[in-house]
Amino acid sequence: MNRRKVTVVGAGHVGESVVRALAEKDLADIVLVDIPQTENMPAGKSLDIMETGPIYGYDSQVTGTTSYEATAGSDIVVITAGIPRKPGMSRDDLLNTNAAIVKSVAEQAARHSPGSILIIVSNPLDAMCQVALQASKFPKNRVVGMAGILDSSRMRTFIAQALNVSTENVHAMVLGGHGDTMVPLPRFSTVSGIPITELMTKEQIDAINTRTCNGGAEIVKLLKTGSAYYAPAAAAVEMVTAILLDKKKVLPCAAYLEGEYGISGIFVGVPVKLGSTGVMEILQLKLSEDEKAALLKSAASVKELCGVLK
Ligand code: LAC
Repeated sequence: MNRRKVTVVGAGHVGESVVRALAEKDLADIVLVDIPQTENMPAGKSLDIMETGPIYGYDSQVTGTTSYEATAGSDIVVITAGIPRKPGMSRDDLLNTNAAIVKSVAEQAARHSPGSILIIVSNPLDAMCQVALQASKFPKNRVVGMAGILDSSRMRTFIAQALNVSTENVHAMVLGGHGDTMVPLPRFSTVSGIPITELMTKEQIDAINTRTCNGGAEIVKLLKTGSAYYAPAAAAVEMVTAILLDKKKVLPCAAYLEGEYGISGIFVGVPVKLGSTGVMEILQLKLSEDEKAALLKSAASVKELCGVLK
């Protein structure tokens, strides 16, 4: 049987972390591609990662390259290319620089891997998904953005810490755009099925919601030289795995909406069923009036940002 093939575009911290974590799963061969001025850096990182295979016990072939030839026929292309945030910058400050990069990457990906599914990681996330959808001309189910799993994982971490319980017992739901207006949903966040609204005070929950919304900025402030990469990469790998194994996993992801939740024509984080064809279904939660208003507000800020794109 031929092994599946996954391309990761962008050999920065996020890209290399995706390759490392994915290689260890032994699910696919991996091609890491970055722009030519980085010379042989992707090849160096790839070889170094592949040489961990005998120790970790995997046979994934990892190839680093500066051209798209070697990416041909990929099942999935993970796009991490773009500049990261510096302290004081919002994700939106990256808009025009990263839009040009993501457009060119999505065009190349579509040319060399016309049947692939694109997972977008570059920021500002929801707008970059829009750019990739337009540039690739792929159907909407084959373009999906990584953000909700990351934001939910941060929220899960904070809930587990606050209640002193295993992270394995904690699930959380964060919808909306991957920005300051993201919408943590405590009613849909649980510890072994028990909503956290029954386990915590409103003050505790408010503090967790706020920390979740600022989760990316908290890391940027600590790192000073860039943004988070371990958790973003882990989240992207969960999406790749769900698709390669056709798990039909329900995960919060940025998906193109056409009327769901009363939102149309943009990507916003919603619960989706992720499997072999990409976004197989968008699940519609019964939101309260407040929750709905917060989601629409978040969608409005994504729409405004996409309006600036030309
Ligand atoms: C974050 C950036 C990567 O949330 O968007 O950490």
